[in-house]
Amino acid sequence: MCGIIAHVGDREALDPLVTGLEKLEYRGYDSAGIAVKNGHGLDVWKCSGQVSDLKRTIDTVESNATLGIGHTRWSTHGPPTDENAHPHTDDSDRVAAVHNGIIENYETLKEKLSEDGYEFTSDTDTEVIPNLISYYLDRGNEPLAAFEHAVSDLDGSYAIATVIEGSDSIFAARQGSPLVLGLEEDNYYLASDVPAFLGQTDTVLYLDDGDVLEVRSDGVEIIDEEGHLAQREVEQVDWQPGETEKAQFDHYMLKEIHNQPESLQKTLEGRFDRDRGEIDLDLEIDLSGVESVQLVACGTSYHAAMFGASLLNQCGVSARAIRASEYDVSAGTPSEETLCIAVTQSGETADTLTALKRAKKAGATSLAVTNVVQSSAAREADEPIYIRAGPEIGVAATKTFSSQAVTLTLLSQYLAEITDGGEPLDTLEELVSDLSELSDAVEQVLQTSGAERLSRTYLNEKAYFFIGRGLGCSVAKEGALKFKEVTYEHAEGFASGELKHGPLALVTERTPVFTICVDDSQKTVTNAEEAKTRGAPIVAVCPPDHEVVDTADEHLYVPDMHPVCSYLLANVQLQLLSYYSATELDRAIDKPRNLAKSVTVE
Ligand code: F6R
Repeated sequence: MCGIIAHVGDREALDPLVTGLEKLEYRGYDSAGIAVKNGHGLDVWKCSGQVSDLKRTIDTVESNATLGIGHTRWSTHGPPTDENAHPHTDDSDRVAAVHNGIIENYETLKEKLSEDGYEFTSDTDTEVIPNLISYYLDRGNEPLAAFEHAVSDLDGSYAIATVIEGSDSIFAARQGSPLVLGLEEDNYYLASDVPAFLGQTDTVLYLDDGDVLEVRSDGVEIIDEEGHLAQREVEQVDWQPGETEKAQFDHYMLKEIHNQPESLQKTLEGRFDRDRGEIDLDLEIDLSGVESVQLVACGTSYHAAMFGASLLNQCGVSARAIRASEYDVSAGTPSEETLCIAVTQSGETADTLTALKRAKKAGATSLAVTNVVQSSAAREADEPIYIRAGPEIGVAATKTFSSQAVTLTLLSQYLAEITDGGEPLDTLEELVSDLSELSDAVEQVLQTSGAERLSRTYLNEKAYFFIGRGLGCSVAKEGALKFKEVTYEHAEGFASGELKHGPLALVTERTPVFTICVDDSQKTVTNAEEAKTRGAPIVAVCPPDHEVVDTADEHLYVPDMHPVCSYLLANVQLQLLSYYSATELDRAIDKPRNLAKSVTVE
């Protein structure tokens, strides 16, 4: 949660800081702020609201500063007020700090510092950081030593960047929250995520937990958690700056929905052989001894995990999707024969990382199915499988769900092939053949979808229900999550057979029931009929010649392909429905209220 950016170099800092914040706003948009070091000391501008509000404040500022930090916030400690916005300064305004994460022992530290006469003005945990640094400066430490002492006093998770009066360096630290360094000749950028500086450089260096850094315009010094000078590998990212722009689209969400033909192609590239019907994920790890699979994830990624678990079970591989936030209370103890798969777009979701660590500690083998190269999950797991969907900026996940589900589909067939008792789907050949047509089929859905018209037909209803069975249940749940996230309307996704066990009491003529049915499940058709009998309008999301068509009042058609593909196409229809419904309701589509894309607190 929260986005941080820092710049030091030979060019003016304000511009890249503001651009960086705009690119990071998906991580939080409650308040924003910037601090730069000028000849006379530190200048800090911050306010509640979005980066656009901050921009109005600094519009007329002329600054030659070449060193600064910035922050966009998703509130945890204290409401989104001007006072609680970052950067926070010490009480003598010598140190400014931005922080992503949680300082767990901040109350103890605050009490101690208050007793020593340091004054606090915000409700945040972050404010202890600049005051601690100040405390150590006051005791004769040089800036780097003062920063290192302060960091060693902190418990919790953090990525921190600071500027200190009198020093030409940025001091930064990483522990459990992402921080990546961008390197351009004589200019350095530190950020929570690569898109923040992708317009300037694609040369990056990923930091490790426990790293402390001093970044100057002439170089970087990294000190690892043992206190030794460390070298980290310099890498090139293969994301293009244009991928983080909205281009001709009104919203990132719509752009990312439309990007799916391309992103799916990248996900699938080189991972299967259509002619031989074979899957090759190029894994180094030996998974042949796996007896059961736990897929841990949150939100949309959890729905992709459900999709994967459903396929694995169909193939005789015992699998369970587990909500990562419930892992410690509901997963039981994994064994050495358990494979734990963390499914996470960002690779930084705290609940998912905690579950992954627990599983590893119990002896499980692990994989991370993630979009972000070198993310925490990618490093924590025994091996990452990258979904290669490209950057996703819209807070509502769209293209990454499709890429996760496709990756897990390939993985399920691979595991079924190599493990005892597993057997790939007997339709594998058809599946592989249809996967190679999936991008074209998505394009067809995007070109012909009736979702925009339908969004107007069912505007302002009392609630929206989505039902499906098996793979269709994960799509129903994802359809409902997307709908509620961006429209703020009440939506629920159910296993279709569950409707009659309670939710049917909510069904009226004001509750459209979106019925996702692409295979020969007669049961879902019956469940739709049960809802129709109670007056609910039925919208069938199905191939044109499916039997459910006759029960339905309206339709969102998908090409008739292997069920795995048709279900993913059904999901694309529901993404469009959510998007256009939210447009009609004039919602903040790319930044829904109260949400943030990457949730790095439990
Ligand atoms: C919904 C959404 C969230 C995320 C969830 C997990 O559109 O984006 O529900 O899916 O916060 O995030 P990752 O996948 O980054 O672990």
